[in-house]
Amino acid sequence: MYGTGTLGPPSLFTTLDGDQHRALRKAVSNAPWSIGPLKNACESRIDDQVTLFIKKMREHAAAKRTICLSDKVGEFAADILSIISFSQPFGSVENQRDEKAILANWRKGLAFFGFTARFRFFREIVLKLPVIGLWLLPATSNDSGMGWLMCEADRQVSTREKLNAENPSDGKPDFMHYCLEARLSDGSPLTPIQKRAHVTLLIQAGADTTATALGSILRFIITTPTVLERVRAEIEEADAANLLSNPIKYEDTRQHLPLFVACIKEGIRLNPPATNLFPRITPKGGKVVDGHFVPGGVEVTSYAYIVQRNKALYGEDAEEFKPERWLVSEKRNFDLEAAQFTFGVGPRVCLGKDVAMMEMYKLLPEIIRRFDIELEQPGKYVVVGGVGYNVGFLVKLVAKTPGHGSTATISGTPT
Ligand code: HEM
Repeated sequence: MYGTGTLGPPSLFTTLDGDQHRALRKAVSNAPWSIGPLKNACESRIDDQVTLFIKKMREHAAAKRTICLSDKVGEFAADILSIISFSQPFGSVENQRDEKAILANWRKGLAFFGFTARFRFFREIVLKLPVIGLWLLPATSNDSGMGWLMCEADRQVSTREKLNAENPSDGKPDFMHYCLEARLSDGSPLTPIQKRAHVTLLIQAGADTTATALGSILRFIITTPTVLERVRAEIEEADAANLLSNPIKYEDTRQHLPLFVACIKEGIRLNPPATNLFPRITPKGGKVVDGHFVPGGVEVTSYAYIVQRNKALYGEDAEEFKPERWLVSEKRNFDLEAAQFTFGVGPRVCLGKDVAMMEMYKLLPEIIRRFDIELEQPGKYVVVGGVGYNVGFLVKLVAKTPGHGSTATISGTPT
């Protein structure tokens, strides 16, 4: 996977060498990645997008339109990542379409991505051939998808550098700003290519993965009526006690919606958006992994989709969506949490986990709070090239009649 070029120029994500990876990761760790700083830096911007999303869903509800809900939440995730990266949404929520076909092209590319990652001969020989390689890999001349994104990153970085040169105090607190400010251990800035590669990195790593998590969790809740009923009751009770903000804050869900939090954990346990960790390479002399000798230079990975359905840990009902398994006791919750690989582990663990969690904690309960959802087609979770996404999850939304806490408005939008 690393160094295939299918994700554009090398970034943190695709840097194979451990030392180089560590240095890059340290350099970009100046951005707010953990939940505390994120709440200060991003929560109000996410609130604005949630408000816009609910407004757009009300329009679909009023027109009695059938919508693919997993695609709609995907468009939300893409806009959040573009806001975090460049300070501007792509406009997918506003325009109710997958702007620049970012999500569609990502999914279209997965089979090729999976094939390239698995066949060394193809990636090390064929993709390096001058004409063929260029023809197969994304190019900045493409008018949509990854190629367009690379071109957009170039445009955004060049414009920002020019603005910063004219007015140095004008830095916007987005990831691009942190990439431009990042310094390697010798004090040098990222190279021009590295700056551009990192600005697109978050969108590649975090848009469709979060989209899948959002879509899967909703699908599980809505297709399991007993859970839906209890989740609704929990939200209504918290709303009636005035414990939920408009729109819901990360802390509201964490403190007052324990069943909803359990649904989130259970949803990503069963449908991890990246089904396996990206491979590690065993060192020259080989390595003993869990009692087995693996020769040097071999790619090894751990498969979240399998590990997270292990009956020895979860019991005979491991394949079922049962959020209550997370509510047994703190100790049990801790043990289950320790066995989750959804966001990876170790020095390459997902940098954007808390961004993704914030989106889940804020958008999903707000949808259930504001709408009744009529299921038309349950859809399914598919995996292509090691990456999962949802298709065909069709619903009609019915805006809920205001009652108790939900008589409140979302930032001035009448309910
Ligand atoms: C539910 C959503 C997400 C899932 C399931 C997910 C999953 C993962 C996984 C499995 C890895 C590789 C970890 C490993 O090999 O040990 C990873 C890496 C990464 N993720 Fe996420 N991710 C999600 C959302 C995000 C978001 C929203 C962002 C950005 C804001 C992001 C940024 C990154 C980055 C930058 C890396 C590379 C880290 C490195 O190599 O040091 N991810 N993610």
